[in-house]
Amino acid sequence: MASFGALLVVVGLMCPTAEALDNGLALKPTMGWLHWERFTCNTDCDTDPRNCISEQLYMQMADVMVKEGWKEAGYEYVCIDDCWPSHKRDAKGRLQADPNRFPGGIKKLADYIHSKGLKLGIYADVGKNTCAGYPGSLGYYETDAQTFADWDVDLLKFDGCFMERTLIAEGYMNMSKALNKTGRSILYSCEWPLYEWAIKQPNYTAIREYCNHWRNFNDIFDSWSSLKTILEWTASNQKIIVPAAGPGGWNDPDMLVIGNFGLSHDQQQSQMALWAIMAAPLLMSNDLRDICPRSKELLQNRMIIAINQDPLGQQGYHTARLMDFDVWERPLFGNRLAIAIMNRQELGGPRRFPISAVPGWKICVPQCNVTQILPQYKELGVQSHQKELVLSVNPTGTTLLTVTPLSSNLRKLHWNNTAVQKEHTLL
Ligand SMILES: *[C@@H]1O[C@H](CO)[C@@H](O)[C@H](O)[C@H]1NC(C)=O
Ligand SMILES: *[C@@H]1O[C@H](CO)[C@@H](O)[C@H](O)[C@H]1NC(C)=O
Ligand SMILES: *[C@@H]1O[C@H](CO)[C@@H](O)[C@H](O)[C@H]1NC(C)=O
Ligand SMILES: *[C@@H]1O[C@H](CO)[C@@H](O)[C@H](O)[C@H]1NC(C)=O
Ligand SMILES: *[C@@H]1O[C@H](CO)[C@@H](O)[C@H](O)[C@H]1NC(C)=O
Repeated sequence: MASFGALLVVVGLMCPTAEALDNGLALKPTMGWLHWERFTCNTDCDTDPRNCISEQLYMQMADVMVKEGWKEAGYEYVCIDDCWPSHKRDAKGRLQADPNRFPGGIKKLADYIHSKGLKLGIYADVGKNTCAGYPGSLGYYETDAQTFADWDVDLLKFDGCFMERTLIAEGYMNMSKALNKTGRSILYSCEWPLYEWAIKQPNYTAIREYCNHWRNFNDIFDSWSSLKTILEWTASNQKIIVPAAGPGGWNDPDMLVIGNFGLSHDQQQSQMALWAIMAAPLLMSNDLRDICPRSKELLQNRMIIAINQDPLGQQGYHTARLMDFDVWERPLFGNRLAIAIMNRQELGGPRRFPISAVPGWKICVPQCNVTQILPQYKELGVQSHQKELVLSVNPTGTTLLTVTPLSSNLRKLHWNNTAVQKEHTLL
């Protein structure tokens, strides 16, 4: 036991390095639905009324969210992305919704969404124009913040197109202050680091002070290759970004594309598992009116959602790459651990992975209780460090486990960057 003791990584609770934006929101990663990846900038309501960006789309999504268990599972925000406004501001310089596609206006839509017990998100841009060419908020931050507050909007996704990169930080900070000044708590979703990385390493201490979550990297597409680049980027930059995450502020790897066209079921499970490990906002972009039952079951899986929403609020790390598997680990409340093991190989069949290769498996000294959540629920029972538990993981799929240490005098894992680096050298 003494030699094991020396290897034991002492784990304490790491607090995020900085204060979070003080608006009382996003104490857990945001959950909801966002139109972009699935419905993009479809404004053609004449020929495609069912899928165009119109008030109908959000009202129908809200109806389904209430009827089909989404709200009960925790999905709360119904979010508009780009292409909602009119190309012209009104006579008072305010943004206005496209009158043909949003005949009731945004305030009415917000009332409808609120009547369902849900919240409404809207979209704007820190620069001269939105990415799709609609009016941007540059020069209008206070006007637009007040307009959104007057409409009773609950979340703002603020994009970064058509803005000088050197002014990105200032623009995002100014909008944050403008939102605060309205007196309405509006969840503030930023893309500040994504646009600032082009010129320098963003200041994540500042970002956490001004934003509730922030996009770091490219837009997600409905494909495995897109998902892989997001995971690669996150793993490569985790020492910079993971310490910034915690209650009130989160890294945002972009939307869940589960339930669409591009991912196999194993790949959908990988996205769900890893978004839980990354403490990512769970913003689905799919058609909830028409979704396959397996995807729905995965998106509503209470155990995965509980990992994502874990009260400790500590984002997980990529802790090992070996035998062409990626291992990710997230410390959970009560000294528990979530482990995701992804089979990177895109060839052959299921491959075997010995769980003792996971760095955090040390919490199983002397014993632990293991529950497999994906690919299907299975109680693996009491395990020990010495006992050889071997998992089988499908190509591009992920096995997701929770591990509960069974010992009263267990030393806590000390989970920080130094610890993770040490783990790597141990391998
Ligand atoms: C505005 O900021 C202050 C100071 O950080 C905070 O106490 C207050 O709750 C904020 N108000 C809103 C509406 O976010
Ligand atoms: C941010 O606000 C400051 C103070 O009002 C102002 O000087 C600056 O020009 C603003 N920057 C942007 C990008 O709006
Ligand atoms: C980053 O932002 C924080 C908080 O706004 C500030 O105190 C710190 O000086 C900044 N760091 C750098 C390197 O600019
Ligand atoms: C292990 O976990 C399972 C599932 O949560 C639970 O039913 C069982 O009682 C646990 N066993 C022990 C020994 O804690
Ligand atoms: C990080 O963890 C190591 C032990 O692995 C510990 O020595 C160090 O003090 C920790 N650093 C911080 C900032 O908590």
